[in-house]
Amino acid sequence: MVAENVLSPSDLIWPIFVLEGVAKREPVASMPGVERMSVDQIVESALEAARLGIPALALFPYTDPKLRTDDGREAFNPDNLVCRATRAIKQAAIDIGVVLDVALDPYTSHGHDGLLAGDEIVNDETVSALVKQSLVQAEAGADVLAPSDMMDGRIGAIRAALEAAGHHSTQIMSYAAKYASAFYGPFRDAVGSAGFLKGDKRTYQMDPANTEEAMREVALDIAEGADMVMVKPGMPYLDIVQRVSQTFKVPTFGYQVSGEYAMIVRAAQAGCFDCDKAMMEALMAFKRAGAAGILTYYAPRAARLLTES
Ligand code: PBG
Repeated sequence: MVAENVLSPSDLIWPIFVLEGVAKREPVASMPGVERMSVDQIVESALEAARLGIPALALFPYTDPKLRTDDGREAFNPDNLVCRATRAIKQAAIDIGVVLDVALDPYTSHGHDGLLAGDEIVNDETVSALVKQSLVQAEAGADVLAPSDMMDGRIGAIRAALEAAGHHSTQIMSYAAKYASAFYGPFRDAVGSAGFLKGDKRTYQMDPANTEEAMREVALDIAEGADMVMVKPGMPYLDIVQRVSQTFKVPTFGYQVSGEYAMIVRAAQAGCFDCDKAMMEALMAFKRAGAAGILTYYAPRAARLLTES
């Protein structure tokens, strides 16, 4: 009666990893309970998610190492894994939104989100590549594009290209405040880029010491045409979620990233606490901070818990 916030399946976005092949599922070693799935299995999961009331999936590819190149060109192959998975979900007429990440890291031989010239990430050349990637993803039927690369000016460039190509209703969820974080470790294992990554992402992702910079990043992305924004990681950055949502009044999403997921699941496995309880408490904390929704690998389990109780 006195609860100020509620958590419901409609708050959850489920990130899943797509794998080549048919009828294939393989566990992600660093994320107990999470599997990579082939496209047919993704369709099954999409059906299950829709049944549970989860409004959207976020798809990430496990790209064959042979297809990873310096220029990340597999990102703009209209038949790449995430495009095929998106088309399969849409062809099956499943009532669920598809969110696709815009960034080059699952496709580059160096594991960076952008293009490299020598040791340096080149911003503007990267933005051109991201625009090409965005167009094939919109064409495949993605409902929401989620640029997670943190290049400057990419939201405006992507928005202009979408408009010019007639994709007027494709939405943009910008990873506006994305920190250079150790908590992404298990994700890089899941998409297979961990072994490739040279150096770190600190020249384009944010310094964990900063708040004002997050506010500037969010303001720019909204001005450039983002429909909604994201803060990432989640739980260690709920102060940022709260400040962004209160200041800008745009839908602000939090990402409970791979390391947060692994931390809770593994601590529970070690007997520290009950996994479901800790996870639901963490997810509620996002809502309390003002998140419009949460990206979480626990989405199907959480939705089941919420609908059963
Ligand atoms: C890459 C991307 C990352 C995540 C989502 N998109 C990793 C990174 O920036 O290295 C992390 C998600 C997670 O850790 O769950 N553009």
